[in-house]
Amino acid sequence: MKEAPRPYRIPFNRVHLTGSELAYIAEAVERGHLSGDGAFTRRASTLLEETLGVPRVLLTTSCTHALEMAALLLDLKPGDEVIVPSFAFVTTVNAFVLHGARPVFADVRPDTLNLDERSLPALVTARTRAVVPLHYGGVACEMEPILMTAHRHGLTVVEDNAHGLFATQRGKALGTFGALATQSFHETKNITCGEGGALLINDPALVARAEILREKGTNRARFFRGQVDKYTWVDLGSSYLPSEILAAFLLAQLEARASLQAARERIWERYRAELAGWAEENGVGLPHVPASCVQPYHVFYLMMPGLDARTRFIEHLKARGILAVFHYQPLHLSDMGRRLGGRPGQCPVTEDVADRLVRLPLFAGLSEADQGEVIDAVRGSRLA
Ligand SMILES: Cc1ncc(COP(=O)(O)O)c(C=O)c1O
Repeated sequence: MKEAPRPYRIPFNRVHLTGSELAYIAEAVERGHLSGDGAFTRRASTLLEETLGVPRVLLTTSCTHALEMAALLLDLKPGDEVIVPSFAFVTTVNAFVLHGARPVFADVRPDTLNLDERSLPALVTARTRAVVPLHYGGVACEMEPILMTAHRHGLTVVEDNAHGLFATQRGKALGTFGALATQSFHETKNITCGEGGALLINDPALVARAEILREKGTNRARFFRGQVDKYTWVDLGSSYLPSEILAAFLLAQLEARASLQAARERIWERYRAELAGWAEENGVGLPHVPASCVQPYHVFYLMMPGLDARTRFIEHLKARGILAVFHYQPLHLSDMGRRLGGRPGQCPVTEDVADRLVRLPLFAGLSEADQGEVIDAVRGSRLA
């Protein structure tokens, strides 16, 4: 008989309930409005708009769907190009390819693992329409030069801010730099409703069409505001609205953001303080957070000396019931990336760091004792 997989005593992530989630869901059920765009969706979007300073936030069923909406808003024509980091989640790129873009892969900076703004001007062609800076771990990309290049060439900036809710750069919230930005509320994110996302619209000229795309290509949103007397099919679109059940869960998490973020900060800072000496002795890199950035404590990673060391390290933790995981694999070298022209050596930093990065358990409910065990296990690992 096959042995059942051993559950991890200390998982990589666990959803942390903050108290109001189930009560809010019960309230949504009692109200009898369970489809999208009810009272909880309004409250959650308004909270995001006011907290971040974004003119319009549309909740979506995922960050992937918010990225797809951004792609549709670009109205891509055959041959149009979108510049994307290769060290990224699949849908950071796929959402644009799905809607007609040719991806142009950019490498990342070795310090923050963010799209290398210095490589950007050379990647722009007459066909470039947009650039997608992904704030890895919620530590900001160098937005000033990225915005300057985008402005010079008339490109739309779409921030993939899946990791970076409530982070800032020079005091400005991530998600407010580009014409568009996307958030994820997937179970692995700091604030979650299981599966969910949001499109942040900073360019007011894009709001009306975004509402239509999200509502199956109809002007239903205008109808409910009394701006038209019937609603009809007016454009492309799909169904990107989350139900009120999800919005209710999400609102509870958003309202508890201060305590969720504070817990993550405590855990992140303890990892850094207690692993710095071990990292230095073993040639292991720790996350770099520039002084201009306030980070959201989404990821604590170790940059191991090489792939073998990482594999042994993950096994060492696994034997102690602790799950540590690597992250993105170079998209330009994936099966799909190669079919789209990706080749080895194209993004050398991505190719190097993808083999070496490993993330430690980090979630608001990680107890002091369990974190202590993770730290002891890390310090007890032999890398040589
Ligand atoms: C940077 C980034 N963008 C987009 C996504 C997709 O998010 P979702 O699962 O909400 O579609 C992820 C998922 O982890 C991500 O890490």
